[in-house]
Amino acid sequence: MVSKLMQVMALVLVLIFGFFIGISKAQLSVGFYTETCPDAESIVGATVRDAALSNPNILAVLLRLHFHDCYVQGCDGSILIDNDPDAEKHAFGHQGVGGYEVIEIAKEKLESQCPGVVSCADIVALAARDAVALANGPAYQVPTGRRDGRVSNISLAADMPDVSDSIQQLKSKFLDRGLSEKDLVLLSAAHTIGTTACFFMTDRLYNFFPGGGSDPSISPEFLPELKAKCPQDGDVNVRLPMDQGSGETFDKKILENIRGGFAVLQSDASLMEDEATKSVIDSYFGPLNSQFGPSFEEDFVNSMVKMGQIGVETGSDGEIRRVCGAFN
Ligand code: HEM
Ligand SMILES: *[C@@H]1O[C@H](CO)[C@@H](O)[C@H](O)[C@H]1NC(C)=O
Repeated sequence: MVSKLMQVMALVLVLIFGFFIGISKAQLSVGFYTETCPDAESIVGATVRDAALSNPNILAVLLRLHFHDCYVQGCDGSILIDNDPDAEKHAFGHQGVGGYEVIEIAKEKLESQCPGVVSCADIVALAARDAVALANGPAYQVPTGRRDGRVSNISLAADMPDVSDSIQQLKSKFLDRGLSEKDLVLLSAAHTIGTTACFFMTDRLYNFFPGGGSDPSISPEFLPELKAKCPQDGDVNVRLPMDQGSGETFDKKILENIRGGFAVLQSDASLMEDEATKSVIDSYFGPLNSQFGPSFEEDFVNSMVKMGQIGVETGSDGEIRRVCGAFN
């Protein structure tokens, strides 16, 4: 009799406990704004499309912005904070990151239509999705419901991945964020669009570690071209596409280039130095890939959605900023 009562009480406790866990662990969901701001996604889409009319490279810039937001402290818009010299965006590892003005324009439109509803972190995630599609990449659904964080601290960005990180460092940095070797390959393939400054090529071309000179993994066919674009002691602000021959279109050419010694960034080239990452790349190029192999586009989308969930704040955590560049 007593034990029966204990069993019932235990069951009730488990139920109550489970209920609270369910509440505190709010999840992102596709169409989060359907009721509260039905045009949210189309407003962001139109803003990105407009921006791309005058500046096609903004697509790559917006895709990169999402990664840099998510990598530091989760996808919480922390990189957008602009009114503090110690804010995260001033970190060395975020050099060259942009697209802030596009996010702010979308935010302004959203505030006039549904004030205080759509987070800046979600705008960044949606803009990256729209950027991929507008660059001829796959269209996909983005779970939303992120809240904006209340911390933006330059020192938290100290461990951003660097072009000269070893493949082991890259793997462990991604693993720290819950991203696998496969995610590392697919997300690096975002370099299928966009450009790099010669600044990031200097060591790879003229001062490669160890031994100096240039990175021996660069194809001898490609090396003279890279050196011509980024001459030693030349202007480090000159930019070149990271996906040789296909820098404006989203496609798996970037992986083909990496495989063949035509990677532009050293970090991309290093994906061939590790058995696990190399075999992920190879998996998209088997003779029967088009019929039976994995789909690069599908796998990319899965990795993007996964990246978009890193450290998100949901429910009543954080805030919905009024402007993206400042805390409320
Ligand atoms: C694996 C670690 C990564 C490293 C070391 C790295 C490094 C870089 C570097 C050095 C640039 C050139 C920046 C400039 O000159 O302005 C760049 C550009 C870019 N990155 Fe990455 N990246 C990494 C991962 C990612 C990921 C995960 C994404 C997105 C999913 C991404 C998206 C981009 C895009 C789209 C650009 C082009 C930006 C533009 O055209 O202005 N990167 N990256
Ligand atoms: C930023 O982070 C560092 C390291 O965690 C900490 O020492 C510092 O107090 C933080 N700064 C602010 C303004 O929160």
